Amino acid sequence: MSRIIAVAGKGGTGKTTAAALIIRTLLRRGKTPVLAVDADPNANLADSLGIQVQDSIGSVLSDFLRNRASLPPGMTKQAFLELKLHQILKEEKDIDMMVMGVPEGPGCYCAANAMLRDYFDDLSKNYPYIVVDNEAGMEHFSRKTAARIDTLIFCSNYSLKGLKTVKALSAMVDELKIAVGSRHLLVNRTPETLGQEFLDGIRESGIPFLGYTPMDSEIEESEIKGVPLLRLPESSKTIQRFEEMIGKVL
Ligand SMILES: Nc1ncnc2c1ncn2[C@@H]1O[C@H](COP(=O)(O)OP(=O)(O)O)[C@@H](O)[C@H]1O
Ligand SMILES: [Mg+2]
Repeated sequence: MSRIIAVAGKGGTGKTTAAALIIRTLLRRGKTPVLAVDADPNANLADSLGIQVQDSIGSVLSDFLRNRASLPPGMTKQAFLELKLHQILKEEKDIDMMVMGVPEGPGCYCAANAMLRDYFDDLSKNYPYIVVDNEAGMEHFSRKTAARIDTLIFCSNYSLKGLKTVKALSAMVDELKIAVGSRHLLVNRTPETLGQEFLDGIRESGIPFLGYTPMDSEIEESEIKGVPLLRLPESSKTIQRFEEMIGKVL
């Protein structure tokens, strides 16, 4: 069975950076093929991976609802939708990518979402690892496109308020009845050493601490220049951090 690693947290807390560097670690360890899923409507995981994606699942679902009548003769709705979804799966060496996007236009998406779920269940059998870059509110999970997460990594900024947000998100995950194997806390863009008050806050959050990434000018620069994180040199201190941290949860 595939292992689902999901990254969650408020915007700007380093989710996409984390998802991309987790994928990088998986690739390096030969744990391939990896399915990368960008489930954040402000999608940018593809850019961080240096992959060009044209279409999103959202637009496929919208088209599907709009063009129901043009179903090819003899083809079931499910088979037609699966064909369309498969066409937008971006296949690269060792890594395939899907962007969730948001459905445009009105309509009842329940049936389409149920078909999407079946498609995902089937698709996921092809990958030992699936990495999901989540939207802040975890709405995809409330629609149950994936009701199981093996490893859930919450990202926070370096503030007590950030830790509070993570606690609230973790409670939301419980309310949504998502089956989570293990939860971890990752703090990004920190000073080199964490203050005592913050460390106490981490302990109080009750979420096992995976680690932190200090402010790294190399990461900032690659963002400004649009260089995919997969192309950062192996000597990057943040990449080395991820190698270490992810090693603990794989
Ligand atoms: N350790 C770090 N050092 C410096 N910049 C970082 C670090 N981690 C993340 N960033 C930067 O912070 C910004 C937000 O990160 P991002 O991964 O896009 O967050 P999210 O996906 O949660 O919105 C990006 O510009 C990213 O390059
Ligand atoms: Mg992001």
